[in-house]
Amino acid sequence: MARARSVYRCTECGHEHPKWAGRCESCAAWNAVAEEPVVVRAAVKSGRHALAGGRAAPAAAPSRLREIATSPLERWRTGLPEFDFVLGGGIVPGSMILIGGEPGIGKSTLLLQAAARLETAGRTVLYASGEESPDQIRLRADRLAEDAGAVHVLGETRLEAILGAAAAVTADVVVIDSIQTVYTDTLESAPGNVGQVRECSGQLMRFAKESGTAVVVVGHVTKGGGIAGPKTLEHIVDTVLYFEGEVALDYRLLRTTKNRFGSVDELGVFSMTENGLVAVPNPSAVFLAARADGISGSAVTALMEGTRPVLVEVQALAAKSGYGTPQRVATGIDPKRLAVLLAVLERRAETSFAALDVFVQVTAGVRLTEPGADLAVAAALISSLYNRPAPADVIFLGEIGLGGEIRPSGAIERRIAEAARLGFRRVFGSSRSSSQIAGVSIVGVDHVEQLVRTLAA
Ligand code: TYD
Ligand code: MG
Repeated sequence: MARARSVYRCTECGHEHPKWAGRCESCAAWNAVAEEPVVVRAAVKSGRHALAGGRAAPAAAPSRLREIATSPLERWRTGLPEFDFVLGGGIVPGSMILIGGEPGIGKSTLLLQAAARLETAGRTVLYASGEESPDQIRLRADRLAEDAGAVHVLGETRLEAILGAAAAVTADVVVIDSIQTVYTDTLESAPGNVGQVRECSGQLMRFAKESGTAVVVVGHVTKGGGIAGPKTLEHIVDTVLYFEGEVALDYRLLRTTKNRFGSVDELGVFSMTENGLVAVPNPSAVFLAARADGISGSAVTALMEGTRPVLVEVQALAAKSGYGTPQRVATGIDPKRLAVLLAVLERRAETSFAALDVFVQVTAGVRLTEPGADLAVAAALISSLYNRPAPADVIFLGEIGLGGEIRPSGAIERRIAEAARLGFRRVFGSSRSSSQIAGVSIVGVDHVEQLVRTLAA
């Protein structure tokens, strides 16, 4: 007779330990290993017994790839264009989508709006919330421009009850708000516990695949920015979206970081209004709307956010440092990248930021993740240093090497086309870049020293 035992799992990384440990042997986190009861699920038990008894369950026979029938992927459009866009065209039946974001950013609002629109399009949606009561959800729904009246709501956190309700209403889409509030009867630990999050996600994924129901789960993010719970959560699901932005500002960015049914790094932009989220179809114009002409320390670049170009403004301020070590404050850009660019400017272009505090930020909460934005960061820094505004009709495109050399960035035609649409006439970038876009000329800048001469003149 096997004794009931426990496993000890790291709450940071999900690594399983045979016994308690003060420090996780996998991710080295301290005080993160927690006890979890092991409940052997009936299905697993009977499967094991069947194998032990020599009566292996009939397995599906393998097929040759060419024998497998293909059908075009079905997608349910939510009718929220920016949401459909980041998903790759709509919700795929039987898929599981995870949407992460800080509290108050608008996840529940987004999903309620999507649910309302799906209902309007004839899809049955069950919205199960452990975060808010049905009457609170009703109050939110009343604010929205959409009519969410047909959406089924359920104030329930027991997974078995939620799945029962989904079956009862034959839901096409089930929304779980949030994965940290649900629990399954098969585990004794509390909701939000790593084991619960993992087990509930696994059960939801099986439910999605078996029933063809699409499952959308909300996940809270930790201080580090990742979705709280085991790393396996993001691995289990088909699609991972992040909803971000400064809570104080109106803009919300919806980003795909994983998508089994579409491309990643797509960006959808919304603004939060009195009546819920409204798609921003033209993010470049919005991101540049607040840009003031004739101010030093500002440079515009075109980023590729997935398949589409988006123009953003990079701002820098170099100011005399009050005391001690000068500050380096970077918002929307990796501080290490900023350090590299400052070092390159010091050594290769003989500029000096050594006694200056340096602040760099990007408009509307956008993050610069591609090296193609280097030139704009350098231009903003130089412009601030010499207090010379960059010309208003110029965008900066290019990557900077450690030697101070400037290299062309990819997808240049699409970036320039977007810049042309918004009235920019010149591109500062590598002379090896070329463009056929009418009305826009490339001004060759091949070294940071040349950039300084051009901007400081
Ligand atoms: P919410 O969807 O509750 O965020 P999350 O689920 O990510 O925690 O949205 C929270 C904020 O959005 C809240 O502060 C109120 C604001 N809001 C609006 O400004 N307009 C609206 O129409 C709605 C529904 C919410
Ligand atoms: Mg919420």
